Amino acid sequence: MNNCQLKIALQKSGRLSESSINLLKKCGVKFDNGFGKLKSAARNFPLEIFFLRDDDIPQYVEDAVADVGIIGRNILDEENRRVETVETLGFGNCRLSIAVPKSFGYESIKDLDGRKIATSYPKILGDFLVRNGVDAEIHTISGSVEIAPGIGLADAICDLVSSGSTLFSNGLREVETVLESEAVLIARENLDPARQVILNKLLFRIKAARAAECNKYILLNAPDEHLAEIIRLLPGIKSPTVMPLATKGWSSIHSVIAETDVWETVEILKDKGAEGILVLSIDQMIG
Ligand code: PRP
Ligand code: ZN
Repeated sequence: MNNCQLKIALQKSGRLSESSINLLKKCGVKFDNGFGKLKSAARNFPLEIFFLRDDDIPQYVEDAVADVGIIGRNILDEENRRVETVETLGFGNCRLSIAVPKSFGYESIKDLDGRKIATSYPKILGDFLVRNGVDAEIHTISGSVEIAPGIGLADAICDLVSSGSTLFSNGLREVETVLESEAVLIARENLDPARQVILNKLLFRIKAARAAECNKYILLNAPDEHLAEIIRLLPGIKSPTVMPLATKGWSSIHSVIAETDVWETVEILKDKGAEGILVLSIDQMIG
């Protein structure tokens, strides 16, 4: 049991690679991810990391070549594999969109009638076209979809758009959103108990790292007459820490606050006479 390892598949190169690697690093997992590496063993956690094409990951997880994997939800929706979605990861947000050459003169979805659309997502695109009553021909290709109109292979494409730079550099214009997507952690069905224990440990760390990303640590000094209101503003995890300052009539308050609330709360705190407000990042947050 001691040398039991969990095998995780990450995207080798592409939109999800860097964030997937960073997530594992935030979980305290140490490993080498040198350029061109296909496999790496973590030094301080029972995890073996495979670097693969993202499109192949659901199949590898279904076939138990890998136990878990990080991929975009778009690939799952396309492939209908027998794998479980364990957690959404809050990065890799992108959309599957239809794009046309700038010269197309596109006005509405009806302009796609009778046209040829190249994609690696024939199922999702097919369902979308049926829902919209469009009769177009789908041409399935496995990669480099963005060059299809330029070489006369198709009139339009349906592909993932993240920053939009791939479309831009190929002279394409996004015209319809088919699906919104983000990175998810998937696992194979019927994971054995020993590996489930490792996955649970990893999930615990992922959740702590994600919670930390969404929250900030806040410290401030406040006059005692406004203490009650400030405590209400900063409920924290259980309640804020309040300590008297050496200066009479003043207290120091420490708490945790949602990142999205920081600026509005700081404005109110200043109105209540707060001074020396510090807002700090949190590495891990365990509730
Ligand atoms: C997707 C897509 C585009 C790129 C779009 O590739 O196929 O190439 O991302 O991103 P951008 O809008 O930021 O330019 P993916 O990462 O899935 O790699 P793959 O196509 O090689 O599988
Ligand atoms: Zn891909």
